[in-house]
Amino acid sequence: MLKIGRGAHAPPFMVMDVIAAANARQAALPPGSPAIIRMEVGQPGTGAPAGALQAAAEALRGGDPLGYTEAFGRASLRARIARHYDDWYGLDLAPSRVAVTMGASGAFPLAFLAAFDRGDRVALAAPFYPPYVNILVALGLEPMVIQAGPHGRYQPTIADLERLDPRPDGLIIASPCNPAGTMLDPAELQALAEWCHAHGVRLISDEIYHGLHYARAIATAAAFSPSAIVINSFSKYFSMTGWRVGWMVLPDDLRRPVECLAQNMFISAPHIAQVAAEAAFACTEELDANVARYRRSRDHLLAALPQAGFPDIAAADGAFYLYAEIGARTNDAQAFCARMLAEIGVAASPGLDFDRQRGGRTIRFSYCGPEADMREAAARLASWR
Ligand SMILES: Cc1ncc(COP(=O)(O)O)c(C=O)c1O
Repeated sequence: MLKIGRGAHAPPFMVMDVIAAANARQAALPPGSPAIIRMEVGQPGTGAPAGALQAAAEALRGGDPLGYTEAFGRASLRARIARHYDDWYGLDLAPSRVAVTMGASGAFPLAFLAAFDRGDRVALAAPFYPPYVNILVALGLEPMVIQAGPHGRYQPTIADLERLDPRPDGLIIASPCNPAGTMLDPAELQALAEWCHAHGVRLISDEIYHGLHYARAIATAAAFSPSAIVINSFSKYFSMTGWRVGWMVLPDDLRRPVECLAQNMFISAPHIAQVAAEAAFACTEELDANVARYRRSRDHLLAALPQAGFPDIAAADGAFYLYAEIGARTNDAQAFCARMLAEIGVAASPGLDFDRQRGGRTIRFSYCGPEADMREAAARLASWR
């Protein structure tokens, strides 16, 4: 019999199944019925900002063959990303530490392969973004899941790390995080980053939701630790999911190893997308208007959902998610979401994807859709039991 590799056992990313169910339901609706409201997807509906589209169009018309770039990306984009660290965090960052990747998703295998060996243990707090664990397992690494709770805003603490035995080789954090939308304060991030550096634990900080924060200040792990790997992307604040561009800020010891891996695995991120991404930095007015819309939807839902039977929602500091505890209503979030979709046409994600132990009692609402849809969803949920 032929052997099947460990990667072939990667579980599905369940949100994708919910998206498929919502698509099918929408397609089957009789003409004139109210549309399905999409609160399961974690992608801005706005598309790339106008300046990015224009730069891409000019590049297409300009006759540039748009071939491969260097593995770490166009020099001008790397320099622009480095400047972004000064603009947002007051951090002087050398462009040589920036690696442009195929979205944040493309950065994960590069980071994990460069930093860890088969069998190494990598800690992270549940609930988590499912691909972290699925990729770790596919690469032969061992996730050490910390059951985080609302008291710690679903983020790991140093006490949690000190309790782990054996000590992990790495720690993945995300602030704001997906699915809970909660954040670490800058001082908490600094303490975690310094603890990891002092204890030989490689910190990987997923900062993809930076720019989408409403209640707390942001800080980058790159400011606090010379050994941390920072991962970010143009998919969320920059609203460019399908362009597949992200970046890493690398510590000195991993620059060349990650470059070699990137050359072998991806060659480069899409050239046209790199051109568009660089132009997106000049589109702050349009992008900040998106953030203002998310903030209004967040505020409306936070006021309306408790009266609609969702009183227990994680601190909604950032990203565009509300993570609600529904244990008083059900232990089967999957069936609950299926019923919600069937009865009131609101699609949301069951928590099991993000937390295999407790996720039967949680649900994630994404509020990055059109503002009118988010208000309509609140109204439909209020009239549903
Ligand atoms: C926490 C987190 N990290 C990474 C990603 C992947 O982003 P990208 O589109 O840049 O690959 C997502 C996507 O939803 C996410 O929520």
